[in-house]
Amino acid sequence: MNKNTALPRVAVGDLRTDLDLTRDELFALLDLAAAIKANPRDFGRALDGKSAAMLFEKPSLRTRVTFEMAMAQMGGHSTFVAGPIGEREPVRDMARNLDRWVDVIVARTYSQRTVEELANYSRVPVINALSKDYHPCQALADVLTIRQEFGNDLRGKKVTFVGDGFNVAHSLMLTATRLGMEVCVATPPGYEPKREMIVLAHTVAQEGSGSLKITNDPVEGVTGAHAVYTDVWFSMGEQTDVPQRLADFSPFQVNEALMAKARPEAIFLHCLPAKRGEETTDAVMESPQSRIFEEAENRLHAQKALLLMLL
Ligand code: CP
Repeated sequence: MNKNTALPRVAVGDLRTDLDLTRDELFALLDLAAAIKANPRDFGRALDGKSAAMLFEKPSLRTRVTFEMAMAQMGGHSTFVAGPIGEREPVRDMARNLDRWVDVIVARTYSQRTVEELANYSRVPVINALSKDYHPCQALADVLTIRQEFGNDLRGKKVTFVGDGFNVAHSLMLTATRLGMEVCVATPPGYEPKREMIVLAHTVAQEGSGSLKITNDPVEGVTGAHAVYTDVWFSMGEQTDVPQRLADFSPFQVNEALMAKARPEAIFLHCLPAKRGEETTDAVMESPQSRIFEEAENRLHAQKALLLMLL
C-alpha cells in the first residue's frame, strides 16, 4: 500500500474507492479496528508527528470529527479546509502543495473525479471521505458493526439497504459482498444503484462467495435480513423534486412493520444524519434493534485502522 513517488501516476495506497483495499487488506483492517476499539491506548502514539489535511466541500459531523479525533488520539494532528476544491486553483496544484506539508489528505467532494485527481497528483495517500459515487469509510464502519453483532465470519449473513441506491449503497455492495454477505438493495424503480456498480459488485462478490440482489420490493428485500440499513431520501445539496421523491420513497420507509419482516435478531443501521419520519421512524431508531450510535462510534475505530494502514 505504498505510494509511488512518480507524478502523475496510477494511485496505490489511496482509498479512492472501496476496491483500493484488497480483500486481505479489508479483513486485516477490520481486525485492526477491533483491536484498536478494545485497547485504544495501545495506539496512542502510533501516528506521532503525522498530519492530515481535511478538504471538505460538503458538511459533515461524523466524518470530520472521527478523522480529527483519530489523528489526535494517535498522536497526530489535522487541519480542516472547508469549501470548493479546484475553484481557486486547480485540483492538481492543491494536491502538490498539500503533499509537501501533510502525510495524508482526506477529501469529501461532490465529484469522484476530484478524489481521483487529488490521488493522481499527491505523493501522500488520499482518502475518499464521501463522493457522489462512494462512501468507503462509512462501509468500513458498517461491516465492523455487523461483524461485532454476528461474528467475524459474515458468509451467508444478509444485509439489506432500503432507499436510494447511491454512494452509501454502492460502497456497501462493494465491501459487504467481498466478506461473503448476501447484499440486497431495495429501491423504488428508477433509483437503483448505477449499472456499472452492480456489474462491479457482482464481479467482486465472487472473491468472497457473496451475492448481490437488486429489488423494487422492500418487503422482499428485508425478508430474512440480519441487518436492515437505510439513508436519507435527499442527499446533501440535492433537494430537488421533493413531492415526487417523497411519493416514490414513502413505501420504502423503514418502520416497525418493515423491520418485522427481517429476522427476529436483525439490527437496524443508518449512516446518519437521519430525517426522522421520512426514511425511518423514531420507534425504529430508538428500538433495541438499533445500532446506529455503535455504527457512528465505529467510524472512529475503522478510520484509525485505515490511517495506520495507509501511513
Ligand atoms: N455518515 C456520515 O458520513 O456522516 P457525516 O455526513 O456527518 O460525516
